[in-house]
This record gives sequence, structure tokens and C-alpha cells, in this order.
Amino acid sequence: MSLFKLDSKVKRLSGEIVIPGDKSISHRSVMFGAIAHGMTKVTNFLPGDDCLSTISCFRKLGVKIEEKDNEITIFGRGFDGLSEPTEVLDVGNSGTTIRLILGILAGRPFYTSLVGDQSIGRRPMTRVTEPLMRMGAQIDGRKNGGYTPLSIRGQSLTPLLYELPVASAQVKSALLLAGLQAEGESQIIEPATTRDHTERMILHFGGEINKSYRTITVKGGQKLEATNVHVPGDISSAAFFLVAGAIVPESNILLKNVGLNPTRTGIIEVMKAMGAELEISQSDNLAFEPFGDLRIKSSGLKGTIIEGDLIPKLIDEIPIIALLATQAFGKTIIKDAHELKVKETNRIDTVVQELTELGAKIEATEDGMVIYGPTPLTGGRVKSHGDHRIGMMLAIASLISSEEVFLENAEAISVSYPNFFTHLNSLKK
Ligand code: S3P
Repeated sequence: MSLFKLDSKVKRLSGEIVIPGDKSISHRSVMFGAIAHGMTKVTNFLPGDDCLSTISCFRKLGVKIEEKDNEITIFGRGFDGLSEPTEVLDVGNSGTTIRLILGILAGRPFYTSLVGDQSIGRRPMTRVTEPLMRMGAQIDGRKNGGYTPLSIRGQSLTPLLYELPVASAQVKSALLLAGLQAEGESQIIEPATTRDHTERMILHFGGEINKSYRTITVKGGQKLEATNVHVPGDISSAAFFLVAGAIVPESNILLKNVGLNPTRTGIIEVMKAMGAELEISQSDNLAFEPFGDLRIKSSGLKGTIIEGDLIPKLIDEIPIIALLATQAFGKTIIKDAHELKVKETNRIDTVVQELTELGAKIEATEDGMVIYGPTPLTGGRVKSHGDHRIGMMLAIASLISSEEVFLENAEAISVSYPNFFTHLNSLKK
């Protein structure tokens, strides 16, 4: 297990960073490019390990994909252009890959087996396999199709009318991808609004989809046409620098090309409520995915409550928001966030354990955590637990730690942000 010495006691951060491509949108660009007809060119694709797993799975399904730097070209031949793979599909650490691909494979008339890493092996799949089986797909796997390894044999699908039991964009997207292949119209009802990249992709690739309040309706048998996709920067990656800029003294950072899809901007709402000096200049609101620049300066912060419908808009940012809260005056309460328990790690446990190691005052609750601040952070030996977002959160925590911090398994960060340390080091002045 590697051990990486992080920089502590950093005096200030300044400069600018162009935020790398959004992970959720990069995955979907490969998937939609594969099921559309024609050549799709994707620019600013994120070459993180998770998105590379998606490319590798679609190649095994017979799709030609060319890669050059951050540009990829996908030669799609429609749903019917996918073919039975001769090898097992390995999704690595990627929940988005496995859950969305199951929706595509549910309607394909062939057999596929799917595996992932140890973390994927602990993540619940029943939330997708059960409704897909209701539509007609044959799926099996460990614990009755609840966990990987999984196998799927696609069938003709009947449309689905389904109320999602959890607010999950991955489940919603899997069902929409299956719905595109069903014989008729499917309706999916969300308990709270989740990221809508799949819905936007369907429209962008010339398809039809309707949303009325929390009900989404999609027709089967639509033909999607190839197009060009420009991936905006990932606000979930920008989040680490937003927090770094706010908590490191005398900082001033400009983050460029950040995706500002309103289903993802919960961290901006929370940071503003906490008193952060955060300015937004939106460059394009009409684009298929809006984006703009964010400037963050060192800020005096106060505690807040984060709950309810806001949670899906910042679910991946909770580890770094927890760190932010350690530096805010008063108490921060995060609740309604049970979903944290089934991410790459149980993020309630891993965040509380690792921030406690650095001296934070933080308590786990049944559906979130409570953080008391401001608390100076000390130092110690911390672990990413193989979770990219825990690794990056700890690297930001070390910047304000008064003693040395050593991080175990920093490699996990390449899942979503291969250039993370290069970007961070460029800001240290
Ligand atoms: C994602 C949806 C979220 C998020 C994950 C990416 C997506 O998961 O946590 O990192 O791309 O659809 P859930 O849908 O399971 O909440």
C-alpha cells in the first residue's frame, strides 16, 4: 500500500485551473454515441479510470471508439449494432458504468457477464436489476441479482410505470435507456430531482423525452442520431478547489469551464449560505449543458443545515463539504443522506473516521453527520479507503493541517481526476 506525503501549512492558493470534463457526462457521451447512428465526436472527455472502463466495455460490445488526448470518436450503429461480447465486461470501480449499461443490455438479445472491483461488489444492484427484470430482462447474479458478478440476457421489453424508491440518477438513467428499447411508453417518477444528464443527452441526440414535475416519459423505438458533444468541467471536481480556496488563508482562485447544470449546483447554494466569497460568471445558459467560471476567495464561514431535496444536488460533494464545515463557526448538520452509505465507500463512516484522525469534531448520524467548528486540523496518517473523493478531500484537509499528513492509497484519485495533484500544486504560492 503506497503512502504519500501531503503538503501541510500552505500559506495561500492563487491562480486559475481549467476544470477537467464531467465524469457523469463523459460516461453518457460514450453510451449515447454507441447507441446512436453515425459518428459522435466528444471533446473535453474525462480520461479518468471510470470513464476508461466505460470505453473498454463498449469496445467489448463491438463498438469502434477512437481516443486521442481528451477527444474521442464513437462509431455508433444503433442499439442493434451492439454484439454479444466474448469477454466479461469489467466496470472497475464505476457504479455509473454498470448501472447504466444494464439498462442498455436489458433490451439486447444476447448474453453478457459483468464484474467490477471489490467496492462495486458491495454496492446494491437490486435497485436496477429488479425493475429491469419487471420489464422482461433476464438477470442473475450473487444474492439473486443483487450484487456483482452479474449476468444479463436481454429480451423484448415491456414498458414500465415505476416510482423510484431512491433518488438515484443512475437508476433513473438505466430505466430510461431500457425504456428507449421497450414496446411503448415508459414513465419513471422520481422522489426528488436528480441529475438530468441522461434526459439532456436524449434530446441532444435528437430523441424525445418529456418531464412534468417529477414524472419522466420516454417512448421506445426512437432512432437516435450521432452528434458532437462538448463536455463541460466537472463541478464535483471543482468542489475540491472551491473548498480549498475558501479555507486556505489569503487565497483567490479562478475555476474555468465548470458545468453549472442546476441539478448539480447544490454546493454553490451551500457555500453561499455558509458565507463563502464565491462569484459566478455563467458563460452559456442555453447550451445543452450550461457552464461558466467560478471565483473563490478565502472566506469567513458559518455552519448550516443541509437536507431534503438539496441532497441529490450535492451528493458527491458531501465529503468535501464536511471538511468545509470543520472550518465554519457553529454547527453544520447533514441529514437525509442515507445514500452516502452505498457510494464507493460508506462515506458517512470514512469521512467521520478520517476527519477525526485529523482532529475534527464530527459525529456520524443515521443519515448523515454533525460537524462542529471551527476546529484546527492537526496531522496524521489517513486513508482514501480506495475512494477517490475521500482521497481528494484529505489532500485539501492537509493544506490547513498544522502537522504532517500522510495519505494511504492516493492512486484512487485517478478514478475521476488524474491531474488533481498537478492542478493543486500549480496553485501553491
Ligand atoms: C451519478 C449519479 C449519482 C452520483 C454518481 C454519478 C450519475 O449516483 O453519486 O457519482 O452519473 O448518474 P446515484 O444515482 O446512485 O445517486
